[in-house]
Amino acid sequence: MSDQAISNLAREERTFEPPADLAAQANVKADIYAEADADRQAFWGKAAERLAWGEPFTEVLDWSNPPFAKWFVGGKLNVAYNCVDRHVENGLGDKVALHFVGEPGDTRTITYSQLKDEVSQAANAITELGIETGDRVAIYLPMIPEAVIAMLACARVGAPHTVVFGGFSSDALASRVEDCEAKLIITSDGGYRRGKPSALKPAVDEAIAKLGDASPVENVLVVKRTGEDVAWNSDIDVWWDEVVGESSTDHTPEMFDSEHPLYVMYTSGTTGKPKGILHTSAGYLTQAAYTFWATFDHKPDTDVYWCTADVGWVTGHSYIVYGPTAEGATQVLYEGTPDTPHKGRWWEIIAEYGVTLFYTAPTAIRTCMKWGEQIPAEHDLSSLRVLGSVGESINPEAYVWYRENIGGGQTPIVDTWWQTETGAHMITPLPGVTSAKPGSAMTAFPGIGAEVVDDAGKPVGNGEGGYLVITEPWPSMLRTIWGDDERFKETYWSRWEGMYFAGDGAKKDDTGAIWLLGRVDDVMNVSGHRLSTTEIESALVSHPSVAEAAVVGAADDTTGQAVVAFVILRESAKDVEDVSADLRNHVAKEIGPIAKPRQIMVVPELPKTRSGKIMRRLLRDVAENREVGDATTLADSSVMDLITDGLKDATSDED
Ligand code: PRX
Repeated sequence: MSDQAISNLAREERTFEPPADLAAQANVKADIYAEADADRQAFWGKAAERLAWGEPFTEVLDWSNPPFAKWFVGGKLNVAYNCVDRHVENGLGDKVALHFVGEPGDTRTITYSQLKDEVSQAANAITELGIETGDRVAIYLPMIPEAVIAMLACARVGAPHTVVFGGFSSDALASRVEDCEAKLIITSDGGYRRGKPSALKPAVDEAIAKLGDASPVENVLVVKRTGEDVAWNSDIDVWWDEVVGESSTDHTPEMFDSEHPLYVMYTSGTTGKPKGILHTSAGYLTQAAYTFWATFDHKPDTDVYWCTADVGWVTGHSYIVYGPTAEGATQVLYEGTPDTPHKGRWWEIIAEYGVTLFYTAPTAIRTCMKWGEQIPAEHDLSSLRVLGSVGESINPEAYVWYRENIGGGQTPIVDTWWQTETGAHMITPLPGVTSAKPGSAMTAFPGIGAEVVDDAGKPVGNGEGGYLVITEPWPSMLRTIWGDDERFKETYWSRWEGMYFAGDGAKKDDTGAIWLLGRVDDVMNVSGHRLSTTEIESALVSHPSVAEAAVVGAADDTTGQAVVAFVILRESAKDVEDVSADLRNHVAKEIGPIAKPRQIMVVPELPKTRSGKIMRRLLRDVAENREVGDATTLADSSVMDLITDGLKDATSDED
């Protein structure tokens, strides 16, 4: 279909009905909403019964001390047993759990019974290294099977993991290790990225050196992936092959309380310090598994699922590691980038493994759109039956392109709204039920209460906009911010009595469908990843050339938003050559390459209100080349002229 035809289709505001054959055999039908509405707790209680329990729960929800929830009270289970062992016990040991595809082209097929052996070995090995129930383990790995195995091994022994995205810097790793006092880091020599080995272990060494005597790390367990040389500290470093490989495959999983901590995932908030979002065991697993089954209509006997997220993000936790394995899925795990060694790599993998369910992010779809429809057209994608989208709203053009060129004009698209904090899908179409509108996440998942409210916390009418809130507790909700209950209450529960404030703007259309409008706080969304303006500002002002900095997210055709930084230089830095490149690299080093500003604008002043608050709205106008909006509340109203007149040094060397 031509680009023009796609644009026309996207503008038609049409809805896409579920295909009749899919609707007829879908796991959940339209009556699921009424069933869940009739008794929300009974609905989630039934979903929890899909799991294997060591001891049954006696109460679905204890909400006597909001916002601190307890789900499936009195129950005990082991998350890893649910994700691995029970499938083997059910006779599915030979079923493929992971089709691993390395970027250089190496592959590994891991069945559920092999996964059980490897997870058990890893559990024995980390126990041998002194990890006990409740100890924290940091995981800093590329997308290789050991990442999944390490997470499940931690779950098996009840040691909460904190996975740090491999693209994050040593500083980001150090602050997370310090905040959750991780005793062990599991890493690798490196991984493959864009056709080359990319080292990881040096960042771990730097992080430990940076923490110095305060380092809580007792051991570093290193997977050999690239075979490149690594510096070795024999006091703490151990090779995975040597300790895990040599361990016994016998391991008896202990049953833990439903509320036993499962993991801490750090995410950006509105301050410089990332928040450690705590998820616990039974409620999280119930919702991750149930939504995986319902939203993707997963059929364990025939489906092959692939989620392109990294395990370092919540999507990788819920929809690679926990949800799919709890449901006994067969999935593809791919190490690399979509364009290595060629731009058809993803589609080649889909054709080769017969992928039926595919989950990715709008930014990736827009990138593929730029590369052109002839690339996917060279591959047989007819196995696909449901496509998913996550991370930001999918713009109608990308939606229609995805459906036409990847989904053969047939497949439903599930645009899933959720967050690190929510743990699992919250607002999404259901593929066999919903008449979907491109660009809308449609309606709350069954058993979830979502609403759009105004400033006073009153629900808005159809056709109106406001703030997205969650009105009822849900099983996979965050339980707190690690070590900071006050910040948890303040950030999410203080704005309106009894409601969880998600931080997103939203509107209801004339039929009540929900359209997400982006963040209403100082959080940006770059390629579906959350970045805080304050965190990048702190990184910038830590550079000796910078006196002051203000960061905004500006609209970007590919990444959704892009980081644009306005900086005031120190006198001493006025003659430094190529200060922009310096600053961009500095941010990459402090936080990670994803946080690198697209543009650095050197300005003489920043627009501030009389109380000193930076008016980012005005800077966003500049960054998006718009006429500057109302500047009357500025302390000095001439500042915006100074800024726009003086912007000669702007660079835009994207890489
Ligand atoms: O702004 C929303 C956006 O991503 C934020 C959550 O980011 P994070 O915790 O990193 O989790 C990303 C993966 C779940 C939300 O507050 N967001 C996520 N999915 C969507 C979305 N915005 C619109 N539509 C979506 N489908």
